[in-house]
Amino acid sequence: MTRTLSTKIKACVFDAYGTLFDVNAAAREEQAALGVKWAAVSETWRLKQLQYSWLRSLQERHADFWQVTGDALDFALESAGIDDADLRDRLMALYLKLSAYPDTKPMLERLKAGGIKCAILSNGSPDMLSAAVENAGIGSLLDGVLSIEEVGIYKPAPEVYQLAVDRLGVSPSEISFQSSNGWDAYAAKAFGFQVIWCNRFGQPPERMPGTPDTEITTLADLPAMIGVA
Ligand code: LAC
Repeated sequence: MTRTLSTKIKACVFDAYGTLFDVNAAAREEQAALGVKWAAVSETWRLKQLQYSWLRSLQERHADFWQVTGDALDFALESAGIDDADLRDRLMALYLKLSAYPDTKPMLERLKAGGIKCAILSNGSPDMLSAAVENAGIGSLLDGVLSIEEVGIYKPAPEVYQLAVDRLGVSPSEISFQSSNGWDAYAAKAFGFQVIWCNRFGQPPERMPGTPDTEITTLADLPAMIGVA
C-alpha cells in the first residue's frame, strides 16, 4: 500500500527504538556470550522494558528509561538462567550504541533536503538518545530529539505526543508520525497525527483505537509518501 497522506506534511516525527535504532543489536553483538538464547533474551528484554514503562506510568512511579532498561535486562538474564555482571554491563553499554537501521540516515537526508522538519520523540532518556543519535551520525539531520523525560510519563500518554506539537510548532494534522511499534503508531493516530506504521516485523494490526493512515515495511518508502523526491 503506497499513497500520499491527506494533508501537506510539514514535519516528520519518529519513534526511536525499533524504528530508527535496532533494539536487537546489543544482544546480537553478545551472541557468543549469550549463546543460543540470545534472541530469547533480547525479546524478553524488550518486552519487559515496555511493560515496565507502562506499569510505572500507571502506578505513577516514574523512573527514567535507563533504569527501566536495566531492570528489564536483569529480568531477562535471570529468566535465561544467566548470572554474569560483566555481560550485563556490556549489554547496557551496547544499548547506548544501538546501530541505526540501514534505511534511517538516507531517508533523513532526503527529508532534510526536501525541507521537512524531522524529530525523534522517544521514551529514551536524553543521555540515551544523544548517544544513539551521535553513534548513528544523524544529529545534523534532526530539528529535535524529544524525550518523554520532559513530561515524566511514558508513551502512549497523550501528553507525550503533545510535546512534539508544542516543540515543533506544527499542528498534529501536519505531522507525519512514524513508528515500528504498532501500539505507538495506533496511539499516535488516536492523538491526531497522520501516521505511517513502519511495520518492519510484519506484525498483525493492533486491536486498539487509532488505525494508522498507511503502512510501509521500510523507511525508504517514506519520502515519496509525503511528496518528497
Ligand atoms: C521509544 C520506544 C517506544 O523509542 O521504542 O519511544
